Amino acid sequence: MRRAGQVVREVLELVRSQVKPGATTLDLEKTAEARLAELGVKAAFKGYHGYPCVLCTSVNSEVVHGIPSPKRVLKEGDIVSLDFGAVVDGYFGDAAITVPVGEKIDPETARLLKVTEASLSAAIEVVRPGATLGDVGFAVQKVVEAEGFSVVRDFVGHGIGVHMHEDPQVPNFGVAGRGMKLRTGMVIAIEPMVNAGKSDVVVLGDGWTAVTADGSMSAHFEHSVAVTATGARILTE
Ligand code: MF3
Ligand code: CO
Repeated sequence: MRRAGQVVREVLELVRSQVKPGATTLDLEKTAEARLAELGVKAAFKGYHGYPCVLCTSVNSEVVHGIPSPKRVLKEGDIVSLDFGAVVDGYFGDAAITVPVGEKIDPETARLLKVTEASLSAAIEVVRPGATLGDVGFAVQKVVEAEGFSVVRDFVGHGIGVHMHEDPQVPNFGVAGRGMKLRTGMVIAIEPMVNAGKSDVVVLGDGWTAVTADGSMSAHFEHSVAVTATGARILTE
C-alpha cells in the first residue's frame, strides 16, 4: 500500500505543477494518465461506478468528483481540488490536495485551504491503536468550526485496502470517544471536505459533480493512513 501511495503522491505532485491559468482540467487528466501509462500502473477511479476519468478536478464551489473537461479553463484566483487513486499489485492508494491557480487568491480562500489541510493533519495526529473514529471526526470538526467554516457531511472518508472503499466509513465530524476503535494494521483514507459557507451540497446533473448549495468555495485534502503501534503512518506523503 505504501507503493500505491507513492505513485499517488508522485502523480499528484506532477499534476500540481501543471496547474496554471489557461490550463484546462482535461489537460490535468491527460498529465496524470500519461504518467500512469509510463509507470504501468492502473488508475483507481476510472470505471469505478462508471466514473470516466483517472482524476477528479473540483474547481471553486465544486466540492468533490468534478469531471475533467476541455471546457473548464482554470483562471487566476481559482482553486482546484485534485483527487487521485492508483492500484499497485492489487492494493489501493487514494489522496487529494487543493491548490490555488496562479499567484493571487482571495485571502479568505487561502485561509480555507490552510484550515482544511490543518484539519487533516489534526485528524492524522489522533490516529493510534485504541483511538476511535469519533476522535478522528471530532479532530477535523474542531479545527474547521473554530475557524468559522463548515464540514461536509454527505461525503465521508473510508477504509482502503484491496478495494478503494472498504469499511469503515470515516466521517469528518463526530463525538470524541465514540465509534469504532482503530487497531494496528487498519488503513483509512481521511478526507475532510470543507465549505467556506454552509455544509449543504448538491450533486449536479452529470451525476458526479458535488457543489456547495450556497455557491461558497470548498476545499478537500486526503491521505491514506495506516494505523501502527506507534501512531499514524501516512502512506500517500
Ligand atoms: N477520493 C474519492 C473517494 O474516496 C475519489 C472517488 S472518485 C470516483 O470517494 F470517481 F472514483 F468515485
Ligand atoms: Co477517498
